[in-house]
Amino acid sequence: MIHMKQQLQYEIGMVGLGVMGRNLLLNMSDHGFAVAGYDKDAGKVEALRSESTGRKSHGADDIKEFVALLRRPRAVMMLVPAGAPVDSVIKDLLPHLDKGDLIIDAGNSYFKDTDVRARGLAAKGIQFLGVGVSGGEEGARHGPSIMPGGPKEAYERVRPVLEAVAARVNGDPCVTWLGPGSAGHFVKMVHNGVEYAVMQLIAETYDLMKRGLGLNDDELHDVFTAWNKGESNGYLMEITGHIFSKQDEKTGKRLIDEILDVAKQKGTGMWTSESAMELQAPVPTIDLAVAMRDLSVFAGEREQAGAVYQRSIKRFTGDRDAFLAQLGSALFAGTILVYAQGMALMTAASVKYEYHLDLEAVARIWRGGCIIRSALLEDICGAFRLRRDLPNLLLDPDLSKKVMAHQEDLRRVVSRAAEAGVPVPGLMVSLGYLDAYRSAWLPANLIQAQRDYFGAHTYERIDAKGTFHTEWEKV
Ligand code: 6PG
Repeated sequence: MIHMKQQLQYEIGMVGLGVMGRNLLLNMSDHGFAVAGYDKDAGKVEALRSESTGRKSHGADDIKEFVALLRRPRAVMMLVPAGAPVDSVIKDLLPHLDKGDLIIDAGNSYFKDTDVRARGLAAKGIQFLGVGVSGGEEGARHGPSIMPGGPKEAYERVRPVLEAVAARVNGDPCVTWLGPGSAGHFVKMVHNGVEYAVMQLIAETYDLMKRGLGLNDDELHDVFTAWNKGESNGYLMEITGHIFSKQDEKTGKRLIDEILDVAKQKGTGMWTSESAMELQAPVPTIDLAVAMRDLSVFAGEREQAGAVYQRSIKRFTGDRDAFLAQLGSALFAGTILVYAQGMALMTAASVKYEYHLDLEAVARIWRGGCIIRSALLEDICGAFRLRRDLPNLLLDPDLSKKVMAHQEDLRRVVSRAAEAGVPVPGLMVSLGYLDAYRSAWLPANLIQAQRDYFGAHTYERIDAKGTFHTEWEKV
């Protein structure tokens, strides 16, 4: 049996048989591809072997044996944690690979690392694709959204596999070649930044309903479930509804109320913010979402500060259903503003890093399989179909109508939250982004005057070309 297996030329190899790698491998195998898997951990290999009966798949815990199973030129995908593990796998693979082989990094790698690795491998005659994969365990197993970047010809080699395993929306696979170099990992990073920000906005509405309105978990379940049936439909909204009905096996209570209010992160949201700062493409709601995860960690200080700044949260009074409708509408507006920031960041990156991104295609492959899939992405596709070089979604005629229709609710919610003392900085900053973006004049003239005053940094004038400096204290 083993002998027969070893005769079989496996079309693709998978390094890293953790949750994502194993499920993606099984997904490939479901679609008839012969896949060999490798992991240093013999237990994970054994788990794959036990699931491989009747499949064209094979697990190996010896890298040489694994590479020997692959059809030439070889295609090896890896799904390992970002950072050093990726370099270590590449180092282990290289002695066994030949010129013309292809390595695919399908993890959440930092895009600049992807560029460095691609250059290093190209010099050795090895092709490299940096591929974002979104959808968690379920997505990997039954259809993720896949965001590939790197040499187009390398993508073409694995395109049949990727198209087969990807999620589908109206028959369209949620995968397409996005651009050269690190384009795929950049897009995946922004996906995660948007994910962080939408999660933050949803969490703020939860807080408003819990502490502001006093809703219980059943009611919260019902509200999020209802919102998911409307224009705010999306995966994050859907799972949020489910979360409120989940019972804790240990206590029999709702699990959500037993979970510590300290949010963790693996860095992709922070990278999105860092990159946005570097590209000078503002993504304030994403920045804020990262900051709020960071702030959540200071649980002890928050408790002390609560004693210093005593002010109980004022419950909302008045028409509860009207407030809930306002809240759903505010969340929808905030969500559009988050996607607008993410797409504008990709526009800036596309120019700077020469990705030549087609943002309609990005929105199209985000419609299924990924964590931020939502009904809104159809409108976003439409916006870029109408105008390929749209600088910001807020300038799209249809989306701007939606923002106009919901912005007053966002304003009301933000001001009522401020009065009640419920922290909604994500909604606030989203509104601030809108108000600043739609403002033909901003008080940046004063900042220029201050800079010139204390540091002779000069300023421009509205009535003449050139740069000017004033001796501000000269009488
Ligand atoms: C996805 C997710 C996935 C991962 C996040 C979690 O698209 O499937 O984004 O990549 O679950 O990276 O990130 P944090 O641990 O930073 O929240």
